[in-house]
Amino acid sequence: MKLLILNGPNLNLLGSREPDTYGSKSFEDYFSELQFKFRNIELSYDQTNIEGELIDMIQKGQEDFNGIILNAAAYTHTSVGIGDAVAAINIPVVEVHISNTFSREDFRHKSYISPNSKGIIVGFGLQSYDLAIQSFLKDNE
Ligand code: DQA
Repeated sequence: MKLLILNGPNLNLLGSREPDTYGSKSFEDYFSELQFKFRNIELSYDQTNIEGELIDMIQKGQEDFNGIILNAAAYTHTSVGIGDAVAAINIPVVEVHISNTFSREDFRHKSYISPNSKGIIVGFGLQSYDLAIQSFLKDNE
């Protein structure tokens, strides 16, 4: 099983960015923990602040991976193009968010990703990614 974790804009700053909302751990540190915990899965991780690059990564992801765990960050709420990319590929995408976007500002309640996602995991801190990985494992039982 090969899974790709994709993070969108400003998530490169996890650890220092608004720690009350997003925690104080860097994603690189958390990713190492995930790799250790899920040693039987080939996990990859990439991040970009650029919308078109995220679309390229989603498109290319279907060549090499069984599924994508996507936190499109702010583009979740604005990007028809990323929503269309998720619809266009033939591997499942699980949408994740660290914070509970539904308990925040109204503009964060809209997602262009959700209608085309297999499922959505929102609001569990970094553990949202762990739960998303587990959702793929359940498929294979
Ligand atoms: C986020 C929620 C988004 O609304 C926000 O723009 C982010 C992070 C999250 O993981 O909680 O950058 O996707």
